[in-house]
Amino acid sequence: MPDRVLITTDDLEQAVRINAALEQGRFDTAMVSSLDDVRQAVRGRQPPPDAIILTGGLHESTAQRLLAAAHEHAVSTLGLVEATDDDPARIGTELGLTAWLVKPTDPLEVTATVRRLIERRRLQQRTGILGESAAIQEVLVKIEQMAPVTSTVLIEGESGTGKELVARGIHDLSPRRGKAFIAVNCAALPETLLESELFGHEKGAFTGAAERRLGRFELANGGTILLDEIGEMPASTQVKLLRVLEDRSFFRVGGTQPIQVDVRVTAATNKSVKEAVALGRFRDDLYYRLNVLSVYLPPLRERRSDIPLLVRTFVAEFAKTHARTFRGITPEAMQILVAADWPGNVRQLKNLIESMVVLAPEGEIRASDIPRDIRERTRTMPVRIAEVQGVPREITGQELEFIFRTLVEMKVQLEELRHRIEERAPERVEVIEVGGSREQGAGSRRLEPATVDPLDSTPEPDGPVVYKAGMTMSDVERAAIDAALRETRGNRRKAAEVLGIGERTLYRKLKEYAIS
Ligand SMILES: Nc1ncnc2c1ncn2[C@@H]1O[C@H](COP(=O)(O)OP(=O)(O)OP(=O)(O)O)[C@@H](O)[C@H]1O
Ligand SMILES: [Mg+2]
Repeated sequence: MPDRVLITTDDLEQAVRINAALEQGRFDTAMVSSLDDVRQAVRGRQPPPDAIILTGGLHESTAQRLLAAAHEHAVSTLGLVEATDDDPARIGTELGLTAWLVKPTDPLEVTATVRRLIERRRLQQRTGILGESAAIQEVLVKIEQMAPVTSTVLIEGESGTGKELVARGIHDLSPRRGKAFIAVNCAALPETLLESELFGHEKGAFTGAAERRLGRFELANGGTILLDEIGEMPASTQVKLLRVLEDRSFFRVGGTQPIQVDVRVTAATNKSVKEAVALGRFRDDLYYRLNVLSVYLPPLRERRSDIPLLVRTFVAEFAKTHARTFRGITPEAMQILVAADWPGNVRQLKNLIESMVVLAPEGEIRASDIPRDIRERTRTMPVRIAEVQGVPREITGQELEFIFRTLVEMKVQLEELRHRIEERAPERVEVIEVGGSREQGAGSRRLEPATVDPLDSTPEPDGPVVYKAGMTMSDVERAAIDAALRETRGNRRKAAEVLGIGERTLYRKLKEYAIS
């Protein structure tokens, strides 16, 4: 299918010439005159256009509304800036254009630019790196340039800004993509363990080394390694790494034969390695070896224009994962998220969206669903509670992620518990003991059916679910679900409880067995 491009007709003469050139270049084009036309084309059709060219009127509010909509739907925009505008780059950045050209433009140049923008969009889809800000676009250009070569790359940026995503992107676009990508966290292990993790060890190299073990460098042979938190690497390991970078060879711990590998090295850090060099904690020769190519990921608070797109994408993604019907987010809530500080950057935003998609009661994120600390834009202090051999150290992003997930799961369970208690609370007052007819065996966790009316002595309509010859396991399951729904008068939450399964599992099974 040809790529679709919309051209606004604010500058009709340019629009017509560009349209002709794009058609020659086998694009599927449409000229649009009003914001409504564009809106319909962006939102109405599936899928949205691949790019929009704004031929003029960039400073008008309609163009700005159009750009905001394009941003949210991840559609690339190319703006044609007037020659009388004195600083096109500043205008482009301020308006949030993906790219801009100064008028009068050569239609062939416009075609080439549009083609490049669309290719970059594909790159974003492949790498999962979202963002229309100039900073992210710059990162994508670098990934494209760095992927084909084997030079070492140093990726810097605060925790959760997407450093691992960039390293994976470089690997996935490189000729090494069929081989391993291995990430090692240099801060998570004490010195001796880190060396054996990276370079492997021979049998008997140290107490407990019962077998020869291959290190990460050997396992990544032919592929790419990511040395995460490189700034925390102990001095002795730095020496060994320098040797690997110089001649791609090393010794296993306790080994005497040099091992030769072909590994592309990428390294990431959320602290300034340059500073560590100045303080004498990081070898300068190693720093220069690592920093042949470099990528810097600015914190999310410095590229707030990317937040709406990230939010919408994550909401859709998690609604799908958790099988939630979700309408989206209110404008007020979005404004709060755009203004927040995000010390944990994209990871923090993503985790928060996941928890809100799971927990927001109205199927929509509202301002009141956003935790107070985010609403108040308070910055959280770095957590320093983990210790390695008695030395305090900062908790890593992955550890924070793990802690966060555990907390979200606990929160979800608590919510479910609260719902159950709320639902059952009045019954507790009304339940009247009627003897053993419905008693469960000792230790059974099956919950009592709703209210028990002492006057209601009619037996259960169909009796207990029993296996009959010819029934499959699915038939038995289906019959059990039918019975539970009858028993609970169609209350799905209670039916799930009675069956001892989660409500979501019940919904899945209802769908599977087409029970309405
Ligand atoms: N630009 C982005 N678009 C989409 N998702 C992103 C982006 N940046 C980060 N993420 C997501 O945020 C999370 C954190 O990203 P990643 O692990 O790459 O960060 P990091 O910089 O390596 O963090 P740390 O320093 O804590 O290791 C991941 O789930 C990643 O997919
Ligand atoms: Mg990381």
